[in-house]
This record gives sequence, C-alpha cells and structure tokens, in this order.
Amino acid sequence: MEDRDAMSDGMLESLLAALRMSPENLVLRGMVVKALAEAGRWDEVTLHAPPLLSTPQRAEALFALARAAAASGKTDEALQLYEEAVTLNGALEDEDFEAELHPEPPLALPVMDFPDDDESGVRPFTGARVSFADVGGMDALKEQIRLNIIYPFQHPDVYAAYGKKIGGGILLFGPPGCGKTHLARATAGEIGASFYVMELDDILSKWMGETEQRLSAIFETARSNAPAVIFIDEADAFGAKRSEIGAPWMRAYVTQLLSEMDGIASRNQDLLVLAATNAPWDVDGAFRRPGRFDRVLFVPPPDAAARAEILKLHARGRKMDPGVSWRQLADKTEHFSGADLAALVDRACEAALAEALRTGNLRDVTQADFLRALKEMRPSTMDWLRRAKNYVTYANQDGLYDDLARYLDAAKIR
Ligand SMILES: Nc1ncnc2c1ncn2[C@@H]1O[C@H](COP(=O)(O)OP(=O)(O)OP(=O)(O)O)[C@@H](O)[C@H]1O
Ligand SMILES: [Mg+2]
Repeated sequence: MEDRDAMSDGMLESLLAALRMSPENLVLRGMVVKALAEAGRWDEVTLHAPPLLSTPQRAEALFALARAAAASGKTDEALQLYEEAVTLNGALEDEDFEAELHPEPPLALPVMDFPDDDESGVRPFTGARVSFADVGGMDALKEQIRLNIIYPFQHPDVYAAYGKKIGGGILLFGPPGCGKTHLARATAGEIGASFYVMELDDILSKWMGETEQRLSAIFETARSNAPAVIFIDEADAFGAKRSEIGAPWMRAYVTQLLSEMDGIASRNQDLLVLAATNAPWDVDGAFRRPGRFDRVLFVPPPDAAARAEILKLHARGRKMDPGVSWRQLADKTEHFSGADLAALVDRACEAALAEALRTGNLRDVTQADFLRALKEMRPSTMDWLRRAKNYVTYANQDGLYDDLARYLDAAKIR
C-alpha cells in the first residue's frame, strides 16, 4: 500500500529543482533529504545530507545517512551513524531499523579457518620487543605478574608438584596512560610465550554477527600454541557496551567468552588471559567468578621514584644535559601518568629541536626546557581518580577496590 505521507515523484522532482536553485536553503534541504529517504533513493541521500551535519538538523541527517549506509550493506558505519543520531535526538529511535543492524548470530556455527590477516582483530604479538626493563617502577605489580604468570610458564613442573594450576585470568585496571597495555606487552616479552592481542572494539565492529566463531577460533589457536597468553585490551566493552546496546549478538558474545574462560580452568593448563580496562565497574560481575578473572590488579599512577625512572627511560638516546634533575621533575609531576611523562619529555625536546633547526646548533635539552614545558601541562589522571573515588565510596562492598581505596586515601583524592 502507498504511504499516504509519501510525496509523489513529481513533487520530489520539483523540490530537487528548487534545491538546485538555492542550495543554501537548509529547511528545503531537510525536506529533500527526508523525501529522498522515503523514496529509498539512497545515493542521493548520501549526496544531499552532508551539508546538514553542521546545522540543527544534524540528528536527522545522521539518521538518513545511517539508513543509506545500511542499504548499501555498510552495517558498522550505519550503526555508528544511527547511534549518534539517537544520542542527539531520542525521538529518532527506530526498533525495526535497530533490529536490522543487530542481526541474530546464526544458530548453526560454520567451521571457520583461523584468520591470520590484519582484518581479524586478533594477531600474534609483533612489534618492538619490550620487557620489564622498559617499564619504569611498578615493582609490586611486576612481582605479582612474575608469580602469577612468568614463573608458572618457566617452571611448570615445580608448580605441578605443589598442585598449583597454571593459567587463569588477570584483569588490570587503572587510569588511562598508566601502563596497562605497556605492562602486558612487557609480560609477553619476558615469557616468550605465544601472545595474542584482541582489541574488543575492533572485534565487535568487524565481526558483528560472527564474534562467536572468531572467539572460539582465537582460543583454539592459542590452546594449540600453548603456553600462550591472550590479551584483551580495552576490555570496558565487556560491560558498558552490553548494557548500553543490549544487542542479542553482544549477549551471545559475552556468553561465549565466559564459556571459553571456563574452558581455561578445565581444558587448559597453559593458557592465560590478561585483560585491561579503565572501567572495571562496568565489567560484568560474571567475569570475576573463580576461574575467570579472579585476580584484579590495580595499576596506579607512578609514584615519585617510578616517575623519575619513566622520565629517564623516555629520555634514553636523546641529547640530554647531564644536569637534568629527574628527582626534581618527579617531585613536580604528582599524579602524572606514564603517558603524560612521555609527553613531557617530548615537549621539552621540542624547544631544543626548534632551536637546532634555526641555528644548526644541536644543544642539549636542559632542566629549564623541562620546567617550561611542565608549566603548560596538567596530569591527565585526575578525572579518572575522582570518578574512581565515587565507585570506591559507594560500590566497594566486596573489597574488590581495596588497593584503589588505599591509593586514593594516600593521594588525598576527594
Ligand atoms: N611504567 C612505565 N614505564 C615506561 N613508560 C610508560 C609507563 N607507563 C606508561 N608509559 C608510557 O605511556 C604510554 C601509554 O601507556 P599505556 O598505553 O600502557 O597506558 P594504558 O594504561 O594502557 O592506558 P589506556 O587506559 O589509555 O589504554 C606507553 O606507551 C609508554 O610510553
Ligand atoms: Mg591501554
């Protein structure tokens, strides 16, 4: 049946003609885009909607572009556009369209070859080999990782003799830039076990509808290459996305991941899963049951001694004045993350670099360069720490965040 609101072709053509005369008429453009969408003329929607993106009609334009993207099979892009549209204007929510974007995963899972190309969202760890020597400070954490990961891999017989199982899951959490990913890579470097990196956002966006097969493929590959470590980075997606989107395939994916983790306890001695997140409070409680991520480790911002070490590490191989006082800089950088400190070294070097380009004279980077750069910088961890304070105050019933709580008290975060 014809949609009564649908515009006749003739009217649509006159609107298009009018728009050609006055392309800057945004009200008219809005009408044209809407009519083109109703007529299913998606190529033209893609052509005419973009100028509306910087106007109050942004949400409607995004919605039209989302439908155009879906019509040409670009589901990931469509989902992104649709989500932004709905965030801007809740009235645009459209259940049927949403269902189209979140297809149910197929019931019978076809057998998949393990993909080893870049597109798979998982790859054996490559890149510059880093080790604990490249991680400044964090001595207590390094020791925990040695006990829980490295020694078991190196001395499986000793652990077996005392009935200690190898493997299991460890969740690293903490403010951004404080070395979770860095530490995980360094761990891989230390043990020389096969190391697989999964970035969840990557997996979720690329594998929509096939996450389950892909996941079991990764775990199978890791199992057959044991001893192995699977590293799930940006693990926030575990929880947050699931509750926000509530898509059926996401739910299926979480269930699958949980059952793979349970498999670790029974089927696999030599598989360890490391995960990192900024938002442990969003991670579904089910992940923290015994045998899953039963160890949850807080990766704090570096203390003064660690800050001095991190600064020195990042200054390695650069022209530094021997008079630079790492101690003094460490004292002036309370709450700075490792990433902030790396940025500080970069900025201090920039002044000397600019001068060298001008004068041809390669001078050393001095304390004064550092102090000047420091004036323009603020620690990036404060927002996270304040937010964390809330969670610790109101949601620490099971003592999960005791380490974090102690840290926040000592650091006088309110
Ligand atoms: N302890 C450290 N020693 C040396 N460098 C560090 C250290 N911590 C952080 N860095 C530097 O900061 C950068 C960012 O750290 P990393 O990516 O590991 O942080 P993250 O905790 O994973 O952050 P996010 O939560 O944003 O993913 C690293 O690439 C490294 O250069
Ligand atoms: Mg990281």
